[in-house]
This record gives sequence, C-alpha cells and structure tokens, in this order.
Amino acid sequence: MDWWKKSVVYQIYPMSFKDSNGDGIGDIGGIIEKVDYLKELGVDVIWLTPIYESPMDDNGYDISDYYKINPLFGTMEQFEEMLDKLHSRGIKLIMDLVVNHTSDEHQWFKEARKDKNSKYHDFYIWKDKPITDQQSFFSGSVWEYNEETDEYYYHLFSKRQPDLNWDNEEVRKEVYRLINWWLDKGIDGFRMDVIDLIGKIPEESVMFGEKSHIYLQEMHKACFEGRDVFTVGETSFATPQSAPLYSDKERKELTMCFGFEHLGLEEIKGNGKWDLKKLELNELKQVFKIWQKALHEKGWNSLFWSNHDQPRIVSRMGNDTTYRIESGKMLGLVLHGMQGTPYIYQGEEIGMTNVKFPLEDYKDIETINMVKEKQEAGWSMEKIMAGIYAKGRDNARTPIQWNSSENAGFTTGTPWIKLNPNYTEINVEDTLKQENSIFNFYQQLIKIRKDYEIITVGDFELLYEEDSNIFAYTRKSETEELRVVANFTGEEIECKGLSEIATEYDRVLLTNYTLNRTVKDVLRPYEAIMFYKSI
Ligand code: NOJ
Repeated sequence: MDWWKKSVVYQIYPMSFKDSNGDGIGDIGGIIEKVDYLKELGVDVIWLTPIYESPMDDNGYDISDYYKINPLFGTMEQFEEMLDKLHSRGIKLIMDLVVNHTSDEHQWFKEARKDKNSKYHDFYIWKDKPITDQQSFFSGSVWEYNEETDEYYYHLFSKRQPDLNWDNEEVRKEVYRLINWWLDKGIDGFRMDVIDLIGKIPEESVMFGEKSHIYLQEMHKACFEGRDVFTVGETSFATPQSAPLYSDKERKELTMCFGFEHLGLEEIKGNGKWDLKKLELNELKQVFKIWQKALHEKGWNSLFWSNHDQPRIVSRMGNDTTYRIESGKMLGLVLHGMQGTPYIYQGEEIGMTNVKFPLEDYKDIETINMVKEKQEAGWSMEKIMAGIYAKGRDNARTPIQWNSSENAGFTTGTPWIKLNPNYTEINVEDTLKQENSIFNFYQQLIKIRKDYEIITVGDFELLYEEDSNIFAYTRKSETEELRVVANFTGEEIECKGLSEIATEYDRVLLTNYTLNRTVKDVLRPYEAIMFYKSI
C-alpha cells in the first residue's frame, strides 16, 4: 500500500511555532528543538509553510528567491540539520511550493516591470488597461498599474504578489528546475499553494480550468516521475468531480488535493468569506458524504479541519469553553475515521482556540485590507469584528502555547503577534501531564490508522442522515467494519439504536468519555465513539 495512505501530516507555520533566538519570530532552530515532540505525537510527515527568502507581505507566500532560506527563519545549514533530524526519526518533510505568483521583489518581476523587451516581462500577465473588474482575494482590483511600462499586471492576491504567466514555457521550466533542486536536496515532496489557479484565464475572470491538469501532468513528468514523493495541491476550487482528476494515480498529477467545500458552509453563498450564517450539521455531513464517495477507489482524500488560513476548529465547530476537550477529541475522531490522509494543524493537538484581539493587534494582510473594504461598503464595525473573530486567519497564527511561563515559552523576546491569553490554562507542558488529553487522543488516532487496515481501505456510508445533532458513519471492507457515532452538540441527546450497536460490535476502539454508558440510547455532550468488529 502507498505509504501516504497510512500517514498523518502535521503542519508547521514556522513564524508561530517556536522561536530559538529571541527575535520574537519562530524559526528553524525552534523546530529542531521540538522534533522529539513531533515524534512523540506520532506524525509521519511535516508540511512546512514557506521559509524561503521573502519580504513577508503575506508571511512568506510572497517569495523573492526560491533557492534561499529567509534569514528570519535561519540558514540553509540549519535547514539541512532539521531535515536530517526529522529523517533520522522516520519523519518526512514536505515544503510549500508557491508558484502561482512570486513576490514583486523577485528578480524576475524586477526585470519584468522595468522593460517590456526583457524576457522576464512575459513571465507575468500584462494588459494595457484593466480588462475586467475582477477583485483580488485580498481586496481591490486584480489589475495594478506599473508606471515604468505604462501597463497593468495581474495579481490574484496582494499587489505585491504578481501572478506568473503559466502559459509561458520558460516559466514552467524555471518552476520545474526549482522543484527538482529541492527534491535533490532530499525533501519528500510539496504542498502546492493555490495550484488550481495556474489554469486561470484572466481575460475571462476564470480562476481554474483544464490547463491546470495539463500543466500538472507536465510537472509530474519533469519532476516526480520515478521519485517516491508526496504532493498535495491546495485546490480551492476543487469539486467532487475534479478532485479525482487531480488525485487519480493513473493520471499522474498529484498524490491528493485539499477540497474546501466543508469549510465554506457558514458563508452566505456568493457573498465572500466574511458574510456569515450558522453552520448546519446536515450540510456538513452531506459534503463529507459526497467527497468520501467521489474519491473512494478513484483518487485520494485529504482530511483537515484547520490550517494557517482557517479559524481554530474547537472554536468553530466545537465548544472552546466547557467542552473544549470533549469537542476537540470528537472532531478529531470524526475526521480521522474517514478515508484519506489526515492533516493536523499545529496547536490542534492541544485544542488551541480562537482569539478576540482589538483591531490594532491583527497582523494579517487579508484582515487589514478587508476592514478598509467593508468600512467603505458601509458595514458596521460590529459586523466586521464578528467576521474577524469567526474567520480571521490570525486565529490560527497566534504562537504555540508551550507552557504557562511568560509568552508561553514561545519566545524570550517580543512575539511578532500577540499570544492567546489563555496560555496559562492551555499549553503543551500541562497537556503532556494529563492522561486524558487531546494530545493523547490524537496519539491514539494516529496509532489506530497504523493498526487497522479498515481506516485506509473501507468504504463510507452515512448513518442517521436526517439527524441534525449526530454525525455517524460506517466504514466497511471485506474483513472489517468500523462505526463512528458522534454528538455534535453540547447537550445530552437521544441516539436511537446506540445500545444495539454497542452489542453488535466487538469493541470500542476509541471514545472521548471514560465511563462507558452505551447501554442507554443516549450520547453525552460531544460524545464520540468508534466501534470495531472483524467480519
Ligand atoms: C494560500 C495560502 O495558504 C495563503 O496563506 C496565502 O495567503 C495564499 N495562498 C496566497 O499565496
């Protein structure tokens, strides 16, 4: 079986992970200090968000040199040391590949913007005037004026992140060169930033299209063929129809891709990310059902609740006060029980929560630009702040809470972003001392994936389909069966048939309450149970 089907990936956002030199910014030295922590958790692969040279307009997703390490994070020697340390413990490392765009400080763009005749001019997308009214993800038009050439260039993110012109063969060759350079260094693959956008058609404001598949196949041939590496595409526009195209092994594109449909359900459709409604469990269940079925034996799913762009999952779908531990475990169990490769975002394993900062403490360019745009559009400050508290990316970017000492043991200096003040109660050191912690539960989830084939091969059948409180499903193979039953609410609820399930199955593989009460048809707040039987 492909190793990545039994793997669990842990995402590190280095700026906020651990600072080793007291400048307030997490770094490679900090990751090296914590390699044994990662080993203890039991994860198989680390995904590192960008650490390349960058002016940090978008925290490193704006790269000015793909072949250099940003001095804020350390040196190439330290990078190599980190890679060796991970490898010596059997942990793989994948890097972030950000090639939909570069920084405006990349040498290519510097040349491109000053001279129409430079070969680098065509590395980017230029027009004499803004030809569409398309808006960028970080507010404002996608078209930005460039005085030197009297033209407009295209940028889907900030104006300091000009989009590369993937239709130019030279661009693609340069990208394949840098991919091979890093793979030759011994890394184990890539997470590919907004990779479906390389198939866009700016003239028609079309964000993705057939071309992304063509280019990914070309990339596969040029870089991945014959190497045992792992690739996961961030494909914001992937659907249950297109995801199998990206991840079907025969098509030779990607190992898997991230679908985001399950994380867009509290948005009012068509109004963007900030206009919110209540999440309906039934909608969430349907999305998972469709994705699970669409990819079964036709591709491969990636399973994730959070990343550096998403709010903290216990605050979002669980309960971050009374039932933080129960709901954190329940969410982990529901996700890890499905088919696909699970991703744990740093801090999720200790149940870190969202923050509510005063506006001036937010650092994220998306949030800062959005406030201006929504104020101009007449939104009340109350509605804007509610959006930030619920969806702002800085929720996930506050530093990891290592212990209860000053700055949570993250840094001896001044942290680049404020800490979540709850670090005195929620931190790694205390968590590791507790027997029934979320950390301990995640360790068990990872172990179950290794020990039980059913987790990777079983099909998926949604149960209690109409019930708006219960998330339950069965996974079946020819020899084993698994059943997950979870209460998505903070109330005790009725769960008809639970006591029968309990007798029908051989045993409980994992549950988030210690005292077994499944003799009654009742689920306690956020209770989740994973039953197992061999056939
Ligand atoms: C997706 C990344 O995850 C996000 O953090 C970044 O801002 C955009 N892509 C642009 O690179």
